[in-house]
Amino acid sequence: MDKDSKIYVAGHTGMVGSSILRDLTKKGYNNIIVRTHAELDLMNQSATETFFKTEKPEYVFLAAAKVGGIIANKTYPAEFITQNLLIECNVIKSSYMNNVKKLMILGSSCIYPKVCPQPIKEKSLLTAPLETSNEAYAIAKIAGIKMCQHYNTQYGTNYISVMPSSIYGLNDNYDINNSHVIPALIVKMHTAKTENKPIVELWGSGTPLREFLYVDDLANACTFLMETYEDSEHINIGTGNEISIKDLAEIVKNIVGYQGELVFDLSKPDGTLRKVLDHSKISNMGWKPKIELREGIINAYHDYLNKL
Ligand SMILES: NC(=O)c1ccc[n+]([C@@H]2O[C@H](COP(=O)([O-])OP(=O)(O)OC[C@H]3O[C@@H](n4cnc5c(N)ncnc54)[C@H](OP(=O)(O)O)[C@@H]3O)[C@@H](O)[C@H]2O)c1
Repeated sequence: MDKDSKIYVAGHTGMVGSSILRDLTKKGYNNIIVRTHAELDLMNQSATETFFKTEKPEYVFLAAAKVGGIIANKTYPAEFITQNLLIECNVIKSSYMNNVKKLMILGSSCIYPKVCPQPIKEKSLLTAPLETSNEAYAIAKIAGIKMCQHYNTQYGTNYISVMPSSIYGLNDNYDINNSHVIPALIVKMHTAKTENKPIVELWGSGTPLREFLYVDDLANACTFLMETYEDSEHINIGTGNEISIKDLAEIVKNIVGYQGELVFDLSKPDGTLRKVLDHSKISNMGWKPKIELREGIINAYHDYLNKL
């Protein structure tokens, strides 16, 4: 990828897309094209084809997707599977029709089986049943990976897929009904602090282990892989650092400055006890994350406060 290559970042207003845009700009790429969802609906086949035919991007980052938390995934599974499949089909096919040199699609760790050996290797894909709560979304993401692989096999294209662990950081979703664990903890602790609540109740025992990746590290890994990775097999992006939900909650509590007590509601489910990606493939290529969890959560909290 040259500094003046024409690069399309799809989904540039989203959490991941906006960070990819920042990283590309920081690295000196100067010919980046973007369209808002309102300007180009990637579910619309003819609009997507016209855009690719007119603009002829050379490199494409597909960070546009219908994304949501557990409640949204359970409530709107038909929308999750339909919208994500349509976006992938339109972008992958249009990339092929217009000789895109390299395409990257983004998936997530939910593509892996509900129960599988930890840390999760890329090879674990499709070895056992998925978690049911977000199956529709995961199936669409798996279809995206497989489409890229089959296009590479049949047409000799260079389409790659990346699977990040749980992301947090700038531009996160702070809707308490639909957010991931770090933004949810930030909102709960901040609200409890401002309302002088003596306790914050958290689901489960606090013992499950999770892995978190700062969004700017993910974006940096994406641009690095676009520059260097040529394999059809999808590749995990993670830190390899695990933390219990309890320790994570203590860090957020400390950063937010909440003085009350954390109470774990043992009657609520814990979910998977350990979920960490095997990141040896990307590590062996020489890529490392830069943002420590504490520093990342401080940035995320400032971002949250700025948007209140
Ligand atoms: N967030 C995470 O924890 C996480 C973790 C792992 C992987 N990922 C992956 O990263 C990718 C991006 O996620 P994100 O968290 O950045 O999501 P996000 O913040 O919701 O951003 C999604 C972007 O896609 C756009 N978009 C949605 N539907 C579209 C359509 N039909 N046509 C054009 N644009 C459309 C959105 O625009 P509007 O907002 O205007 O609709 C937005 O710019 C996803 O593939 C996701 O699987 C995310």
